[in-house]
Amino acid sequence: MDTGLQHLHSYMSYLVLAGVLISVIVALAGWFGNKPFTDKDRKLGLLGLIPAHLQWVLGIILYFVSPLGIASATEGFMKNSISRLYVLEHPLMMIIAVVLITIGYSRAKRMVGTGNGFKSIAIFYGIALILILSRLPWHAWPGN
Ligand code: HEM
Ligand code: HEM
Repeated sequence: MDTGLQHLHSYMSYLVLAGVLISVIVALAGWFGNKPFTDKDRKLGLLGLIPAHLQWVLGIILYFVSPLGIASATEGFMKNSISRLYVLEHPLMMIIAVVLITIGYSRAKRMVGTGNGFKSIAIFYGIALILILSRLPWHAWPGN
């Protein structure tokens, strides 16, 4: 169960990165192309939002069942950069990133019919992507 979840969380990361990246590229193209933001474009934003939400839920479960999660928050874990990453930096940064993605999508949803929805997705998803990339456990992923 524990390893199954870990693998799921690991593979889902490809979908999260691909979904968010495609959403950002499409949104930048729409923004700079001055196109109106339609309901179809809103749905493209779901490409980033849905994997991110799923990953978020998986991550929180993992945090409580994985030996690398809360279980490794033992004395002195802040001095070890790997346990600090898993216990604190990765979860915190990913939660912030997913909140930004949700805000970007939510704002864009209310802008269907205008051009600004693209800008909301491009900026919020773009910042989220940078935050995600900054705190992935690169030493362990993909594969090792
Ligand atoms: C955008 C969201 C997220 C992405 C892209 C992501 C990505 C990853 C990746 C690539 C790994 C390494 C997997 C491996 O070793 O192959 C990992 C591990 C882990 N993540 Fe996330 N994560 C996200 C959100 C979260 C959240 C919100 C939490 C907790 C609140 C979390 C907790 C963990 C834990 C505890 C591990 C270590 C699991 C283990 O190896 O036993 N993640 N994550
Ligand atoms: C299996 C997990 C999840 C999936 C597949 C999922 C999927 C989705 C989808 C498809 C939407 C867009 C709905 C729309 O178009 O209005 C959405 C919106 C949203 N989700 Fe999730 N979600 C998940 C978990 C969560 C969790 C655990 C939370 C909060 C703790 C959350 C908070 C939100 C919020 C606040 C929105 C609103 C965005 C808006 O204003 O439209 N989601 N989610």
